[in-house]
Amino acid sequence: METIKQFNDYVMGTYGRFDVVMESGENRVAAAEDGKQYIDFGSGIGVNSLGFCDSDWVEAVCNQVKSIQHTSNYYYTKVQADFAKKLCEETGYSKVFFGNSGAEANECAIKLARKYSFDKYGKGRHNIITLVNSFHGRTIATLSATGQDVFHNYFFPFVEGFRYAKANDIADLADKLDDTVCAVMIELVQGEGGVIALDKDFVSYIFDECKKRDILVIVDEVQTGVGRTGKLLASQNFGVKPNITTLAKGLAGGVPIGACLADETCCDVLGKGTHGSTFGGNPLACAGGLVVLNKVCDREFEKQVNEKAEYLRSKLLEIEAVESLSGMGLMIGITIKGKTAAEACKQCLDKGLLVLTAKEKLRLLPPLNISYEEINKGLEILKNVLSN
Ligand SMILES: Cc1ncc(COP(=O)(O)O)c(C=O)c1O
Repeated sequence: METIKQFNDYVMGTYGRFDVVMESGENRVAAAEDGKQYIDFGSGIGVNSLGFCDSDWVEAVCNQVKSIQHTSNYYYTKVQADFAKKLCEETGYSKVFFGNSGAEANECAIKLARKYSFDKYGKGRHNIITLVNSFHGRTIATLSATGQDVFHNYFFPFVEGFRYAKANDIADLADKLDDTVCAVMIELVQGEGGVIALDKDFVSYIFDECKKRDILVIVDEVQTGVGRTGKLLASQNFGVKPNITTLAKGLAGGVPIGACLADETCCDVLGKGTHGSTFGGNPLACAGGLVVLNKVCDREFEKQVNEKAEYLRSKLLEIEAVESLSGMGLMIGITIKGKTAAEACKQCLDKGLLVLTAKEKLRLLPPLNISYEEINKGLEILKNVLSN
């Protein structure tokens, strides 16, 4: 309680926090200051892709701390070069820009798309279409890109040049796709918006139409990326290859990171002096990220993620109070009956299970290497909460 009081005295109150002080974690179990343990079905919010303090990850990050923790981006580091190579090779992209968060990765994508168009077509082709109910971050530009009215308060004026098309509505999108548009930016599974996957037809339309008109497609995989949906990238589940993919959250297993990946059409658009980030590509993040990628890109690991997703989903559907599931792989939205998601989330916490909400749904983003034993323990708690 003392920590909580001190915290609230000194930290801005931008989050509705639960009264738990987390102290440590091992495998997929967090421990609070008072010794209480919590099974983790949230990975932070999709960040701890390898659970708490995975031994290979700890070793790599600690070794990196001991050799060089930071240097400015006016110099090179081997670990950033190694991580960039692995990331580009595994995802099939040409080049990457590193930042420190999802919002920063998307800021880079927005700047890149506008400059691509400016370089080729001049002024006036700067509009970016995003989707109603999307979420792209909390900076002024990414809030402007976010297609939810609730975020468009207080902080006026917002950045111009974003239009919101209705998800899965081809006619609405077609109406907005004119010759002032430089990019379409989407989440393939809207995360904060309620774990809702886009229709494949709608996605195909976007890619076909944009290709015809030299409009870049940006896929925000900040939440869906790095194995979360059962493939390294969710776009692989949809059989598409965006010009730009943004990643963050789970990419470095818990160290701040953001990545904006660009294909051969636009990977050289941002030249010297046009973009930057003091901490971007930080050696600790790159060292952690290399361990994450080495594990997540392993075929056997990917197979296990898919098997666990299938198992968890089938067990969830056996719970009486579960009405339906949404999402993909280990990104799971649960529509429940009998109580609100917020109530269920709090009750799970009280009983030792960390879950998330997304709009009116419960949302599960468990660590990708969660064990069956941990899944079963978590399921038991969830079942208990939803049945009472
Ligand atoms: C799809 C998506 N994009 C961007 C962001 C913003 O990421 P960050 O909080 O790291 O800036 C989030 C965060 O939830 C997200 O889910």
